[in-house]
Amino acid sequence: MVEVIYKTNLDNVDWHQMKSVLRADAFDNGRTAAQLKKSFENSYATCIAYADNQIIGTARVLSDGVCNAYIVDVWTLTIYRRQGIARTMMQILLDKLNGQHVYLFTDDAPEFYKKIGFTEQPVGMAQVIGKWLVNE
Ligand SMILES: CC(C)(COP(=O)(O)OP(=O)(O)OC[C@H]1O[C@@H](n2cnc3c(N)ncnc32)[C@H](O)[C@@H]1OP(=O)(O)O)[C@@H](O)C(=O)NCCC(=O)NCCS
Repeated sequence: MVEVIYKTNLDNVDWHQMKSVLRADAFDNGRTAAQLKKSFENSYATCIAYADNQIIGTARVLSDGVCNAYIVDVWTLTIYRRQGIARTMMQILLDKLNGQHVYLFTDDAPEFYKKIGFTEQPVGMAQVIGKWLVNE
């Protein structure tokens, strides 16, 4: 099996490769390579999984560093799923969040999050301000 390497720094990330692999794996939410870079750089902590120097997994967390955190962009490339990669990426992030309330939204993967200790909350509320991905 190919060795999977987990990186928590963003040195030498190929954002165009991330964009194209997400698109090919149907997990592209519309961000450009530059927007991916900015959103990862502005995160509290990130984890990117690599196999053969290719990006095969991502996870990141927004946090105030004290009490509240929000997990986003949790993804494992389809052919690498069910091998514990997302669990490992999540554990790397959660280890940095002691004492914090960690929230996330999922419509596709509740069973995965339950396996790693999350419980459903009764109500989540959301609003997109203006137009999605238009930040100016
Ligand atoms: C959800 C996702 C990130 C899981 O990645 P993964 O690397 O396959 O997950 P892991 O192998 O670490 O799974 C950890 C545990 O959750 C279970 N699990 C993973 N995906 C599951 C699913 N879709 N349904 C039920 N259980 C699941 C695994 O069987 C494993 O259980 P085990 O420890 O008892 O063996 C991956 O399926 C994915 O990228 N999906 C598309 C993107 C997505 O929906 N992301 C979540 C956005 S909120």
